[in-house]
Amino acid sequence: MTESTAKTRGEGPPRPVTLTDLQKKKASDEKITMLTAYDYSMAKMIDRAGLDIVLVGDSLGMVVLGYDSTVPVTMEEMIHHCKAVRRGVGTALLVGDMPYLSYHVSKEEAVRNAGRFLKEAGCHSVKLEGGSDMAPTIEWIVKAGIPVMGHIGLTPQTATSLGGFRVQGRDLESAKRLLEDASAVTDAGAFSLVLECIPSEVARAITERISIPTIGIGAGPYCDGQVLVTHDLLGLFEKFLPSFVKRYANFAPDINRALDEFITEVKTGVFPGPEQSFKGGEELLEQLPSLKNYVASR
Ligand code: KIV
Repeated sequence: MTESTAKTRGEGPPRPVTLTDLQKKKASDEKITMLTAYDYSMAKMIDRAGLDIVLVGDSLGMVVLGYDSTVPVTMEEMIHHCKAVRRGVGTALLVGDMPYLSYHVSKEEAVRNAGRFLKEAGCHSVKLEGGSDMAPTIEWIVKAGIPVMGHIGLTPQTATSLGGFRVQGRDLESAKRLLEDASAVTDAGAFSLVLECIPSEVARAITERISIPTIGIGAGPYCDGQVLVTHDLLGLFEKFLPSFVKRYANFAPDINRALDEFITEVKTGVFPGPEQSFKGGEELLEQLPSLKNYVASR
């Protein structure tokens, strides 16, 4: 756990991160950290490292399930992975990402699906994409007692209608729309807001304008916090790398080398060696010929 996280959580055993903690961090200019996780083992490592928020992002569709986009991800897939991550999370705030079409059809369906993340998967909150257009939906979900994280800027679920995966808010008109979206999501009751792929200056204006913490991804240094897809940060996803990602490790080549070595050692009989094998007792060794006959007689 980092010094700052330990401080936020106070002395003694770490306690779960709350929405109030995040709000306090914004007020005191202490950066919020968030990473994605899709399974138990990674969630445990991220939680142990002291991250404030673990997001089970629908990015799992691309980096874990091998889809070409996040659009095909289903509620069942999200719930399945959230349950696994939940078992690995101790203190971080757990956010489940609502997949495409799970909150677009009706407010009732949106509330019911958001509720599944809490009731079935044990998440603390949900995230959904969209600005002013989604504000009424956010309001409904929040009214049902479910904390909501917003997400504006580049919204991957609807990237096609935004003209593809490109930086948003580059001209004054679209920057103004982003500010309006951020205010609408805040007024609807969201507890924080992801800003994806927007110019740093626009992210700064939003962060200074709204009362809830902003979490940036490709949105520059002025956001209240930062998020990355863990597979990008660790070099586990090789298909492409967005330019805003910083790789803190590059595990894919190491994994490839280890796999090659395994194949070679199995083929050459180096693995398993004596250390990875079990030996029978002396009595068994003496009686081995009869065991061999027994096998042969079947
Ligand atoms: O799906 C995801 O992982 C996300 C983050 C990148 C914010 O939405």
